[in-house]
Formats: sequence, C-alpha cells, structure tokens
Amino acid sequence: MTTFAHAHAGAWNLRCLYKGGDSIKLFNLSQVLSHQDLQSLFFISKMTTLKEKLLSVVKEPSGNGKNKITVVGVGQVGMACAFSILTKYVSSDVVLIDVMADKLKGEMMDLQHGSAFLKNSRVNASTDYTASAGSSICIVTAGARQREGETRLNLVQRNTDIFKGIIPQLVKHSPNCILLIVSNPVDILTYVAWKLSGFPKNRVIGSGTNLDSGRFRFLLSQRLSAAPTSCHGWIIGEHGDTSVPVWSGVNVAGVRLRDLDPKVGTEDDPENYGDIHKQVVSSAYEVIKLKGYTSWAIGLSVANLASAMLRNSGQVHAVSTMVKGFHDIKEEVFLSVPCILGLDGVTSVVQQKLTEDEKGLLLSSAKTMHQVQTNLKY
Ligand SMILES: NC(=O)c1ccc[n+]([C@@H]2O[C@H](COP(=O)([O-])OP(=O)(O)OC[C@H]3O[C@@H](n4cnc5c(N)ncnc54)[C@H](O)[C@@H]3O)[C@@H](O)[C@H]2O)c1
Repeated sequence: MTTFAHAHAGAWNLRCLYKGGDSIKLFNLSQVLSHQDLQSLFFISKMTTLKEKLLSVVKEPSGNGKNKITVVGVGQVGMACAFSILTKYVSSDVVLIDVMADKLKGEMMDLQHGSAFLKNSRVNASTDYTASAGSSICIVTAGARQREGETRLNLVQRNTDIFKGIIPQLVKHSPNCILLIVSNPVDILTYVAWKLSGFPKNRVIGSGTNLDSGRFRFLLSQRLSAAPTSCHGWIIGEHGDTSVPVWSGVNVAGVRLRDLDPKVGTEDDPENYGDIHKQVVSSAYEVIKLKGYTSWAIGLSVANLASAMLRNSGQVHAVSTMVKGFHDIKEEVFLSVPCILGLDGVTSVVQQKLTEDEKGLLLSSAKTMHQVQTNLKY
C-alpha cells in the first residue's frame, strides 16, 4: 500500500532536485514541474517499497514495552546511567531527554550504533517530553553539577528551578512512573520532585546513599581483603557531607566488626576504621578534582536500582525516601534508609536498630535538610 508519506517523500525529493533544496511550497509543484516530471511523481507515489515487499504487516507494533526508562539529562551522569542500563540489560527501551539538541542527538546516535552489540535495544532521544510517554521509570540527572569545592547544598536553588520545568512534563506523559532523582543535592531535590509531582511517596525516590554505601563497601573490602559484595555495611542519611555510617551493623558473613572490637569506627579506634567513612565523604570531591565529574559509579548504582524495581526483585538498597516518623524524625524530609524496592518503588523501610549516636547524626541531617527546604523558592 502506498501511503501519503511515501508520495509526499517522492514529491519532496523532486522538489529538492528541481530547486537545489530551496524551500518552495508543495502546492507550487504543478506550476514549476513539466508534464514528464509530474508523471514521474505519480510513478513514485505508486511505488511499493522494499520493506513493503518484504513484510506483510499483521498488526502495527505497540509503542512501549513494560521496561521503558527515560533519562533526563545527557551529561556525564545521565550517559553513565543510560550506558549502564543498556549494558546490564536492565531495559531495552531507553529515551534520552535534554535541552541541548545537538549533544542529545550525538549521544543517541552513538548509543544506537552500539545496539547491534547489545540485545537489540531501542534508544530514542528528544527535547520534547512526548518521547518519554509511558515510561516505567524516569531518571532525572539534569541540572548543574558541583563545581570544584562547591557543596551539594549550594546547588539547590539552581537545580530546583530546573526541576520546575522537568517534573510536571514527566508526570504529564508518564503518570504511573517511578521518579528516580539523581541530580544534587539529591535528598532535597527528591523532596522537590515529590512536591512538584503530586505522586505518592513510594513512587518518588532519590538515588541517595546507595552510591555512598557502595563506596564504603569497596573501601572496606580493600582493608579486609574480601570482595565488596561480601562486606556488608550501610551508609544512611544525607547523600554527602552529613551521611551516617552504621558501624553497629558492619559485618562480614554475619560477624559484626563491633563484636570483635567495640571501638571500630569510633574516634578511639587505634586502627582508624572511621577514616573509611571520611574517605567516602571526600571521595566525590576527590574524583571531581581529578577528572572533573563523577560518572561510572553513580551510573552503575542507578542501573542497579532500576533493575531492582523493574524486576520487582525486593532487593534492599539505601535510597532517599520520605522518612518522617522513622527514627523519631519529625520533619517531612527525604533521607536514605534501607528500603525494599519493587514495581511500586519503595514498598518497605527496614527498621534498623541504630545506636543513640547514629540516631543523633540522622536527626541532625534531617534538621539540616528541613532548614534548606524552608528557604526554597518554588
Ligand atoms: N546523586 C548522586 O550520587 C550524584 C552523583 C554524581 C552527580 N550527581 C549530580 O548529577 C547531576 C548531573 O551531573 P553531570 O555531571 O551529568 O552534569 P553535566 O553538566 O555533565 O550534565 C547536566 C545535563 O543536564 C542538562 N540540562 C540542564 N538543564 C536541563 C533541563 N532543564 N532539561 C533537560 N536537561 C537539562 C544539560 O544540558 C546537561 O546535558 C548534577 O546535579 C550532579 O551533582 C549526583
């Protein structure tokens, strides 16, 4: 069957040949083309394409699979997220959104050219949010990043303003999605996204201290010569400067380090294990100083979270969630605690037994977050 689009495409080609690409309106063609040209045009419009000869359509394929993921922001972090999602086979349908059209198209094409080496993933990109329609997860990495020496909290108003343009668009086109916020300061921007979206709290999640916990486990593994996946430790609270290491629970194979040495992680620890947490806090600043940004670890961590949710796995991750009511927190703030993740986002919060010190640190993080939030202009 010849479609209007084919006939139109044929006419467009003839028009370009005739005027060398100048913009002439279609309705002028009969005035400027010879009878022979018009016959050729008629012939082209009747042509059957190779695709039509090869394929007999039974039903047009539906637009979306169930694992569509949109990544907003194709900077270093967004692209590391998209790359990890594709190469770890978390989703076969990834849409990229950004305001920089050329960079966006370049990143899309570069990934598309790799699709033959993946499992036939679809990668699309647009500056228009309609392309994100029907996403199961929308990951937001857009925004300004920390400058060298700049704290995450300084970024807050700049990125809140950017979110006002992004979140309502995502909600409009994917009203049932899970919003996974990565842009910094992630805990406050997750709160901002929650407010702007009107979504229930289970469907607005910040990547939070999943990354900090990963860094902690890696550094612990270096000290103990055991694999990072076998070193169990949780960093909770704020992603960043006031994060809380839960030393009381750090263990390998169920053996708590605190049972072996009650001073581990404290100021009095002769082996200075507490330095590991200091390194976690400073490591983002160090990587930024060395290479200008952080990307691979956050990309892998976000892909892990997306996988846990899309596969409804029930995996427990430290992510930023609404913590009012947990550990005596009275403020409506988002901070990381261990959460069970599934198709509905956060389905449960693990109630960790914290020491008084750990709880105190978490409460003071909550106060800091709340103070910053009250000064935000929407
Ligand atoms: N949560 C974490 O653990 C973590 C880790 C690393 C970085 N980050 C944060 O991620 C964010 C991105 O970092 P990056 O290094 O990729 O920055 P980047 O500057 O490389 O990329 C930001 C991208 O956002 C796009 N953008 C800006 N405004 C936009 C808008 N209104 N709509 C759509 N796109 C828009 C820009 O065009 C750019 O492509 C920063 O806020 C950074 O601090 C978070």
